[in-house]
Amino acid sequence: MFKLFVTFLCTVALASAVFAQNIYIALPPANTDVTAGKEITVQLDRPLTLSGSEEVAVVIGTSTCPSPTTCRDVAEVLGDILYNGPFKPVLSDDSWSPYQNITITIPSWYRGPVQLGVAHFFLLGAGLNAQLQLTNTIVNVVAPR
Ligand SMILES: *[C@@H]1O[C@H](CO)[C@@H](O)[C@H](O)[C@H]1NC(C)=O
Repeated sequence: MFKLFVTFLCTVALASAVFAQNIYIALPPANTDVTAGKEITVQLDRPLTLSGSEEVAVVIGTSTCPSPTTCRDVAEVLGDILYNGPFKPVLSDDSWSPYQNITITIPSWYRGPVQLGVAHFFLLGAGLNAQLQLTNTIVNVVAPR
Protein backbone atom coordinates (compact mmCIF):
# COMPACT_ATOMS: atom_id res chain seq x y z
CA MET A 1 0.00 0.00 0.00
CA PHE A 2 2.70 2.47 1.05
CA LYS A 3 4.81 1.49 -1.93
CA LEU A 4 1.87 2.14 -4.19
CA PHE A 5 1.39 5.56 -2.67
CA VAL A 6 5.07 6.43 -3.14
CA THR A 7 4.88 5.29 -6.75
CA PHE A 8 1.85 7.49 -7.20
CA LEU A 9 3.64 10.51 -5.69
CA CYS A 10 6.68 9.95 -7.90
CA THR A 11 4.48 9.72 -10.97
CA VAL A 12 2.71 12.95 -10.06
CA ALA A 13 6.00 14.72 -9.32
CA LEU A 14 7.50 13.56 -12.59
CA ALA A 15 4.38 14.47 -14.53
CA SER A 16 4.33 18.01 -13.14
CA ALA A 17 8.07 18.41 -13.72
CA VAL A 18 7.63 17.31 -17.32
CA PHE A 19 4.69 19.67 -17.73
CA ALA A 20 6.79 22.55 -16.37
CA GLN A 21 9.32 22.11 -19.16
CA ASN A 22 6.73 22.42 -21.87
CA ILE A 23 7.12 25.06 -24.53
CA TYR A 24 4.25 26.82 -26.23
CA ILE A 25 3.74 28.56 -29.54
CA ALA A 26 3.48 32.27 -28.73
CA LEU A 27 3.51 33.29 -32.40
CA PRO A 28 1.75 33.05 -34.74
CA PRO A 29 -1.52 33.34 -32.81
CA ALA A 30 -4.03 30.58 -33.64
CA ASN A 31 -6.11 31.14 -36.77
CA THR A 32 -3.97 34.03 -38.08
CA ASP A 33 -3.89 34.59 -41.83
CA VAL A 34 -0.43 33.91 -43.26
CA THR A 35 0.62 34.31 -46.90
CA ALA A 36 1.66 31.34 -49.03
CA GLY A 37 5.31 31.51 -50.06
CA LYS A 38 6.12 34.09 -47.37
CA GLU A 39 8.31 33.87 -44.27
CA ILE A 40 6.73 33.91 -40.82
CA THR A 41 8.19 33.99 -37.33
CA VAL A 42 7.40 31.09 -35.07
CA GLN A 43 8.07 32.17 -31.50
CA LEU A 44 8.54 29.28 -29.10
CA ASP A 45 8.39 30.23 -25.41
CA ARG A 46 9.82 28.16 -22.65
CA PRO A 47 8.60 29.46 -19.29
CA LEU A 48 11.25 29.65 -16.55
CA THR A 49 11.25 26.72 -14.16
CA LEU A 50 13.19 25.62 -11.13
CA SER A 51 13.47 21.98 -12.08
CA GLY A 52 16.54 20.96 -13.99
CA SER A 53 16.36 20.35 -17.67
CA GLU A 54 18.47 20.74 -20.75
CA GLU A 55 17.13 21.85 -24.10
CA VAL A 56 18.05 19.88 -27.21
CA ALA A 57 16.06 20.54 -30.34
CA VAL A 58 12.76 21.28 -32.00
CA VAL A 59 11.21 20.22 -35.27
CA ILE A 60 8.52 22.35 -36.91
CA GLY A 61 6.33 20.68 -39.49
CA THR A 62 3.23 21.80 -41.34
CA SER A 63 0.39 19.84 -42.86
CA THR A 64 -2.74 21.01 -44.60
CA CYS A 65 -6.10 20.18 -43.02
CA PRO A 66 -9.47 19.55 -44.68
CA SER A 67 -10.92 21.99 -42.12
CA PRO A 68 -9.57 23.79 -39.02
CA THR A 69 -11.11 21.11 -36.80
CA THR A 70 -9.98 18.05 -38.76
CA CYS A 71 -6.19 18.27 -38.69
CA ARG A 72 -4.31 15.02 -38.26
CA ASP A 73 -2.72 14.29 -34.88
CA VAL A 74 0.79 15.79 -34.60
CA ALA A 75 1.90 12.49 -33.07
CA GLU A 76 1.02 10.85 -36.41
CA VAL A 77 2.12 13.48 -38.90
CA LEU A 78 4.43 16.47 -38.64
CA GLY A 79 4.13 16.91 -42.42
CA ASP A 80 6.53 19.13 -44.35
CA ILE A 81 9.53 19.71 -42.09
CA LEU A 82 10.31 23.42 -42.20
CA TYR A 83 12.76 23.52 -39.29
CA ASN A 84 14.82 20.80 -37.67
CA GLY A 85 17.49 22.20 -35.41
CA PRO A 86 18.68 23.36 -32.02
CA PHE A 87 16.39 25.01 -29.49
CA LYS A 88 18.14 27.69 -27.43
CA PRO A 89 15.55 29.99 -25.85
CA VAL A 90 16.94 33.25 -24.44
CA LEU A 91 15.44 35.92 -22.22
CA SER A 92 14.79 39.29 -23.78
CA ASP A 93 13.14 42.51 -22.60
CA ASP A 94 9.86 41.96 -24.42
CA SER A 95 8.82 38.70 -22.74
CA TRP A 96 8.60 37.07 -19.32
CA SER A 97 9.76 33.75 -20.72
CA PRO A 98 12.90 32.86 -22.58
CA TYR A 99 12.05 32.25 -26.20
CA GLN A 100 13.45 31.58 -29.63
CA ASN A 101 12.22 33.05 -32.89
CA ILE A 102 12.39 30.63 -35.77
CA THR A 103 11.75 31.82 -39.31
CA ILE A 104 9.97 29.41 -41.62
CA THR A 105 8.65 29.83 -45.15
CA ILE A 106 5.05 28.78 -45.76
CA PRO A 107 5.02 26.46 -48.80
CA SER A 108 3.67 28.35 -51.82
CA TRP A 109 1.12 25.64 -52.73
CA TYR A 110 -0.69 25.75 -49.36
CA ARG A 111 -4.19 27.25 -49.10
CA GLY A 112 -6.64 27.26 -46.22
CA PRO A 113 -6.20 25.69 -42.80
CA VAL A 114 -2.71 24.42 -42.02
CA GLN A 115 -1.50 22.77 -38.87
CA LEU A 116 1.81 23.92 -37.48
CA GLY A 117 3.16 21.05 -35.41
CA VAL A 118 6.10 21.32 -33.03
CA ALA A 119 8.10 18.42 -31.62
CA HIS A 120 10.21 19.51 -28.65
CA PHE A 121 13.01 17.27 -27.50
CA PHE A 122 14.66 17.87 -24.12
CA LEU A 123 16.43 16.18 -21.21
CA LEU A 124 14.82 16.22 -17.79
CA GLY A 125 15.92 15.97 -14.17
CA ALA A 126 19.10 14.93 -12.42
CA GLY A 127 19.36 11.78 -14.52
CA LEU A 128 18.58 13.74 -17.68
CA ASN A 129 16.05 11.38 -19.22
CA ALA A 130 14.92 11.97 -22.77
CA GLN A 131 11.53 13.64 -23.21
CA LEU A 132 9.44 14.51 -26.21
CA GLN A 133 6.66 17.11 -26.14
CA LEU A 134 4.29 17.74 -29.00
CA THR A 135 2.27 20.89 -29.49
CA ASN A 136 0.47 22.53 -32.35
CA THR A 137 -1.49 25.49 -33.63
CA ILE A 138 -3.52 26.18 -36.73
CA VAL A 139 -3.10 29.03 -39.19
CA ASN A 140 -5.01 30.01 -42.30
CA VAL A 141 -2.96 30.27 -45.50
CA VAL A 142 -4.08 32.85 -48.03
CA ALA A 143 -2.89 33.33 -51.63
CA PRO A 144 -0.33 36.08 -52.26
CA ARG A 145 -1.87 39.24 -53.64
C1 LIG B 1 10.92 37.80 -32.21
O1 LIG B 1 9.91 38.04 -33.15
C2 LIG B 1 8.93 38.99 -32.72
C3 LIG B 1 7.87 39.09 -33.83
O2 LIG B 1 8.45 39.33 -35.06
C4 LIG B 1 9.61 40.33 -32.45
O3 LIG B 1 8.64 41.24 -31.94
C5 LIG B 1 10.72 40.14 -31.44
O4 LIG B 1 11.42 41.35 -31.24
C6 LIG B 1 11.69 39.07 -31.92
N1 LIG B 1 12.68 38.86 -30.89
C7 LIG B 1 13.97 38.79 -31.13
C8 LIG B 1 14.86 38.53 -29.97
O5 LIG B 1 14.45 38.94 -32.25
